[in-house]
Amino acid sequence: MDPKSPAESVAVMTQMILPSDANPLNAAFGGRILEWIDICGGIAAGRHCRHAVVTASMDELHFHASIRVGWVVTLRARVLATFRSSMEVGVRVTAENPLTGETYLTTTALLTFVALKPDGSRAEVPPLKLQTDAERAALQAAHSRRRERLERKAVLVEWQRLLEP
Ligand SMILES: CC(C)(COP(=O)(O)OP(=O)(O)OC[C@H]1O[C@@H](n2cnc3c(N)ncnc32)[C@H](O)[C@@H]1OP(=O)(O)O)[C@@H](O)C(=O)NCCC(=O)NCCS
Repeated sequence: MDPKSPAESVAVMTQMILPSDANPLNAAFGGRILEWIDICGGIAAGRHCRHAVVTASMDELHFHASIRVGWVVTLRARVLATFRSSMEVGVRVTAENPLTGETYLTTTALLTFVALKPDGSRAEVPPLKLQTDAERAALQAAHSRRRERLERKAVLVEWQRLLEP
């Protein structure tokens, strides 16, 4: 499979925080931001592999700052690493004060999407085209993160039993 450039997967989404997107503190509801992160990340993953994708996991999710109602939110996602049928996608969310143009970082997240064939079996995804040493180092870091998240998935079985009714 031919490698694809990281730029080919870039997805950008712009939204305005409406009252229906707000929490009781009149700031953006985190669940709505998560929904948009999932959509934007899924578009990036789909652009890379041109298959249907499902979200396998979301981690490294940090809400750095709240967002006011009426402010404009921009999500930017791209594939950071590819494995066999899965892809790690990074999403960065910024907010913009529409009156001043001031922007700031509000949320960051990493998601893993799995590519599926129409029959539901896993589809192999194209590798990323890496051109610089920095890009190759970033891929190595992504491999370490993947190892750690799959290890965490394995121990999940332990603690989730504590929540059984
Ligand atoms: C995600 C899902 C496909 C993984 O299936 P699985 O049988 O546990 O995993 P498989 O052994 O087939 O592995 C498939 C790939 O997913 C990766 N994977 C599985 N669980 C993962 C997790 N929690 N985090 C990151 N990657 C994961 C595997 O490493 C593997 O990657 P690779 O092919 O690149 O090596 C399956 O659990 C699923 O369908 N979950 C529901 C997805 C969903 O409904 N999402 C929300 C709506 S889109």
